[in-house]
Amino acid sequence: MGLVTGACFAHLGHDVKCIDTDTEKIKRLNEGECPIYEEGLNELLKSEHLGFSTDLEQAVKDSEIIFICVGTPEKEDGSADLRYVFDVCKSVAGYLKDGQTIVIKSTLPVTAVPKIKELLDESGAKYNLVSNPEFLAQGTAVKDFLEPDRVVIGSNTEDGLNQVAKLYENVDAPIVKTNIESAIIAKYAANAFLATKVSFINSIASLCEEVGANVNDVAIGMGHDKRIGNRFLKAGIGYGGSCFPKDTKALVKMGDEVGVSFDILKAVDSINTRQREIVLEKLKNYLNDFDGKTICMLGLAFKPGTDDMRDAPSLYLAKELLDSNSSLQVFDPIVKSVKGFDESKLVIKDEAYQAAKGADAIVLVTEHPEFADLDFGKIKGLVRGNVIIDGRNFLDAKKLKDYGFDYEGIGI
Ligand code: UGA
Repeated sequence: MGLVTGACFAHLGHDVKCIDTDTEKIKRLNEGECPIYEEGLNELLKSEHLGFSTDLEQAVKDSEIIFICVGTPEKEDGSADLRYVFDVCKSVAGYLKDGQTIVIKSTLPVTAVPKIKELLDESGAKYNLVSNPEFLAQGTAVKDFLEPDRVVIGSNTEDGLNQVAKLYENVDAPIVKTNIESAIIAKYAANAFLATKVSFINSIASLCEEVGANVNDVAIGMGHDKRIGNRFLKAGIGYGGSCFPKDTKALVKMGDEVGVSFDILKAVDSINTRQREIVLEKLKNYLNDFDGKTICMLGLAFKPGTDDMRDAPSLYLAKELLDSNSSLQVFDPIVKSVKGFDESKLVIKDEAYQAAKGADAIVLVTEHPEFADLDFGKIKGLVRGNVIIDGRNFLDAKKLKDYGFDYEGIGI
């Protein structure tokens, strides 16, 4: 998020210095290497307005506006881990001057704001504090930044609002100006609402299976209603990634802290967990048990267009399947390694056909577009079993059945 934000601001003509404590990452960036996979980002990194450094002191001293983009990962109790934000605030406070603006881009709870102010106040400077939440989705982050649906800016000072709004003057989007608290909640609420849409359609998928309906058609029937919209109504193995799972839980936690019970989001979360189990159960129905079986897994990333594995449903499946003594042959066009698994049991292959070879079943976890072009006639000749569980309702069910596969999607 930090890198995309920096690169896009540089693309808009602002002078940007990206700071990180990770010397290796900064070295790679200075050598022109992009440390993450994100469409269109490589190009933007060449901007003459963009620099990379570990020298926080110099960067703070040289800047009018300082964006905080560090991670706020999920703690075991579901709350956001704020230590990186607090650490960076402490460091920034050491060099802050009057009139500078600190912008929080990291997703963090409203309850963190007083502590952030306290840390920055140590500087003695008269600064502006702004929240400018990011709404980038991985895989489309550059486009989302440059062509956003809206820009939300929250500050308790007019100067802070105007300075940050000016940064976006060449971006064609409505600018929502508000206070810090509302900006922060707008971000959580947007993610939680989208996660709710996904869990809602997944509940409808379970109903569809019982009554002979097709959730894909139901979603189309719903989505044409402009009040509902057709996006985030794809049923399947459920949502993963570094945002929805974390932000829904953090909102529940934030509610708990002030006596507001988010029962709806608790249900959204448990439905999402259930979707992963459903895929496993479907597989088991065909294979009876997993002991000694070889499973071909198509896709690893939590969604197409990214190499991000954080909270990817594939990790849950891989763990359960390996614990049940099966082995996995995996192919993902972007992800080429996974940490934490026995490499002799979870074997990453160079292409889908190799992953399918000798497999007792295929499970599709990520709807990478290239999977639609696979020659399933060829795959039929390579596999040992017949089963395809399509965790994303992505493949052509009719074609696969014609090839002789037992095809099963989610709610179709
Ligand atoms: C999400 C939001 O979409 C961004 O607006 C936000 O800025 C970002 O979180 C963030 O907080 O940083 P992201 O996590 O990159 O973006 O990915 P999404 O495209 O939202 O997908 C999230 C998960 O939902 C994926 O696992 C995807 O497969 C799943 N999903 C999405 C479905 O299962 N069904 C759908 O119909 C849509």
